[in-house]
Amino acid sequence: MRLLPVLEGLHSAESFNVEFLEAFFRRTREIEARPVEFRESLRGRVVAHVFEEPSTRTRLSFESAVLRLGGSVLTVTDPKSTSGAKGEALADTAHIVGGYADLLVWRHPRDGASRVVAQHTSVPVINAGDGRLGHPTQTLLDLCALERRWPAFAGRTIGLMGDLKYGRTARSLAWGLALLGVRVVLLPAPGLDWESSFERRILDHFGMRLRWTRHPLFRVWTGSPEARVLEPRGMIQGLLFQDEVPTLERLDALYLTRLQRERGATVIGEGYPGLQPEQLRDPLLESCLLMHPLPRREELPFELDRDDRALYFEQARLGPVARMAVLLAMLREDAWPLPSLTPLPAGQPEAALGACANANCVTRAEGLTTPWRVVGAARRQFLCALCDSLLPVDYVGCRSTLRVHPIHSPAALRISPENLHPFREREEALEAGYAWGG
Ligand code: NCD
Repeated sequence: MRLLPVLEGLHSAESFNVEFLEAFFRRTREIEARPVEFRESLRGRVVAHVFEEPSTRTRLSFESAVLRLGGSVLTVTDPKSTSGAKGEALADTAHIVGGYADLLVWRHPRDGASRVVAQHTSVPVINAGDGRLGHPTQTLLDLCALERRWPAFAGRTIGLMGDLKYGRTARSLAWGLALLGVRVVLLPAPGLDWESSFERRILDHFGMRLRWTRHPLFRVWTGSPEARVLEPRGMIQGLLFQDEVPTLERLDALYLTRLQRERGATVIGEGYPGLQPEQLRDPLLESCLLMHPLPRREELPFELDRDDRALYFEQARLGPVARMAVLLAMLREDAWPLPSLTPLPAGQPEAALGACANANCVTRAEGLTTPWRVVGAARRQFLCALCDSLLPVDYVGCRSTLRVHPIHSPAALRISPENLHPFREREEALEAGYAWGG
């Protein structure tokens, strides 16, 4: 079988698996317990930080992580100071900077940018935030903060609130929580919900169910008394079988996010969902950890900082140690390995599929042909391999039998991944020399 190329590095929370996360949690404790042991681990190594968007916590905690491990840093903090401002292609910048460092940490306003960087350098790449798509190391520190408070993840319930459309931290965290068996309640600001195809992919990937739940506070926050729930299969919840939408009794954590104004997000209607100090007296929030990736705006008032439930400063405090664990696994696998991440396929370019429909996809800014990858076992979906948007594929051909089938037909499901040839229209396949069905 022809092996499809995969991307090196950490680009998406979709690459996490339970073995990786459990070993990662243990490693962060080891580092915190015996920091001296790690002080020289990256001696002689150089890590380049290219931040083409503002950052305080992510950049400084990465730099702190490298320095505490004895390595050296190169840093770009202003995209206007690089050749990108002269029109240099991201691929070229990646190629060059990759020659100056042993690992690249990259933040960029376009969805999928770190994956392009990884395709043009031979050193590992860590995504430090790509557009609205993902921020996997933020998810690692978010989960690390939770793991220190919760004896187990399975059976817990967390709310994701605010700008789910443009907020990459919530999107990444949703993958991590689903992987660990946590029930996720979605509390998007009006007009700032994520695409249904994104949610469908998480549901399908983990075999979760979509449910509804209600609570009077939901209306105050989002304008709607009901909220969607991504429910792990097998989660016992007596109320589920009632016809009525069950009222949620308690949240174990609430993850607030700010409005991503710089990505074009605006508030519609009553206002942007946030917490008010008096709401903390509601039984729903009695033992609810309050989380935020920071920076915060009005959604998280300063009065909450002294509350025992506030976890956001602890999240930020864990940034360096979480990043130390990842850097060690990538640069010192000999001494400090972690179980492998599940790699993302690099994808295959297919000009006939046309441009990616996502206007913020890195392919659009960089003039690249959209590469595709395929996900789902029972129901296949073709995605842009760079920004994960759904591609309009209705037919698939088999490169070995030269037959073409409707995408959801049993015959199409039997085609092995390396033989798949996606088409938008049946006619395109026939013109390309494929025969119909059979
Ligand atoms: C977040 C980001 O950049 O996505 N910040 C961070 O890394 N802690 C969240 C945000 O900017 O809203």
